[in-house]
Amino acid sequence: MTTSQQPRVQWQGRWSFLLAATGSAVGLGNIWKFPYITGEFGGGAFVLVYLMCIFAVGVPVMMTEISLGRRGRGSPVDAVRRVVNESGRGSMWSLVGWMAMICGFMILSFYVVVAGWSFAYVWKMLTGGISGTGVDDMVAVFTANNQNPLNLGFWSTLVTVATMFIVGKGVQKGIERSVSWMMPGLVLMLLLLIIYGLFSGGFIETVRFLFAFDAGSLSSAGMLAALGHAFFTLSLASGAILTYGSYLPKSASIGRTAIGVAIADTIVALMAGLAIFPAIFANGMDPGEGPGLIFMSLPLAFQSMPFGTLFGLLFFIMLSMAALTSSISMIEATLSWLCDNKGLSRPQAAWSAGIVLWLVSTLAMLSFNIGADWTLLGKNFFDWLDYLTSRLLMPLGGLGMVVLAGFVLKNETFRDELSLPPSLYAVWLFMVRYVSPLGIVVIFINALGLYQVTITADWPWLLGILVVMVVAGEALSPRIGRASAAR
Ligand code: PFF
Repeated sequence: MTTSQQPRVQWQGRWSFLLAATGSAVGLGNIWKFPYITGEFGGGAFVLVYLMCIFAVGVPVMMTEISLGRRGRGSPVDAVRRVVNESGRGSMWSLVGWMAMICGFMILSFYVVVAGWSFAYVWKMLTGGISGTGVDDMVAVFTANNQNPLNLGFWSTLVTVATMFIVGKGVQKGIERSVSWMMPGLVLMLLLLIIYGLFSGGFIETVRFLFAFDAGSLSSAGMLAALGHAFFTLSLASGAILTYGSYLPKSASIGRTAIGVAIADTIVALMAGLAIFPAIFANGMDPGEGPGLIFMSLPLAFQSMPFGTLFGLLFFIMLSMAALTSSISMIEATLSWLCDNKGLSRPQAAWSAGIVLWLVSTLAMLSFNIGADWTLLGKNFFDWLDYLTSRLLMPLGGLGMVVLAGFVLKNETFRDELSLPPSLYAVWLFMVRYVSPLGIVVIFINALGLYQVTITADWPWLLGILVVMVVAGEALSPRIGRASAAR
């Protein structure tokens, strides 16, 4: 049990945190969302911006979040408040923590619906596979699965109950065990699909689609989607990584962990792209099909494969497990907050959060059947949850984190937590102070339609702004309580 009076529970063993953080990062975001938004936003250029966002914004933000968590030893709300107080700054900054915690809860409310699809497909594979031969049949199976609210609700409820059951059991027992065998299994399944795609057509087109850079194909909405997805896929600005960081022993290296998680996450996403698109191109499907993409294309691939139903079964089991190791991380912030502030035991916190979650996720589930027409500005409830979290709360929360780290908090906090050699520390500081905020702001300006940024044409003035920011930032920072990196 975790209360503020007792020393905080910590991860046991060297690999536990790395496994848990990877388990959180690798999930439906990599296998369900990355392929379908890549399809929607036109491929190569989107992938490039996404990769840039992962390494220029995501990794520095992840290092910041783990440091904040470990320093503040609490839920995002409590940890940020403590660290901010330590630096003698106003508690208004703990809003960043609140935003993250609420964002994680909102994501989970639609995530359980998608995880429910995966659970439902496990069942379909178990009970004889999916009948039908063409794309239309697959679309029909997916649509039928969604049309009945009782059916879809059953699966999302099952995911909610499973998540709450695991987290209710406690930090170590519940979370640590499942990740170590699930991740290699998932990579193996993706490898199998890639090898199959190599021989069954559509592979060359896939490589061209994912990696050919066509600057003209990327809209400003696509850039914002790429940034939002970088946060989503690394579980940032939603409380998960920060709370996991709060259980991290002092001896662990934060920089190495963050880079390790980002690399593993990127490999799985790119592998998912390479595994999924061949079936799409070979069957003449539209890559921009939307959220149902993998549930329509993969069963087709499995059907024409020897032992396809067995592989399909294994694949959807792995995907469901990957979804669970992410969903348990999303609720951990809320749980930790309830335990520390409301005096609840972990099981009590799990079940009370679970009831609220069930209500909200049921509304999200209804977006695929009776609530499909309950729309506001053309988006239903499910779409709004996805849109608000990925395109607004996460980029803004990320901006809050880097501004906190770069300008508000004392230098010693991060120097101490990160324990990096001076040159690497300077790189991290440069990223959180200048590169990440500039990237986030430029992408926002773009998406709001205030100005259309094209990297190829606009890089000179972007560089100019960066230089001005660096000069102003370095001149100001000693006065706002921060020493420069060199000192
Ligand atoms: N990173 C997870 C995925 O890619 O599926 C999603 C996620 C987990 C988002 C935890 C946010 C979070 F806090």
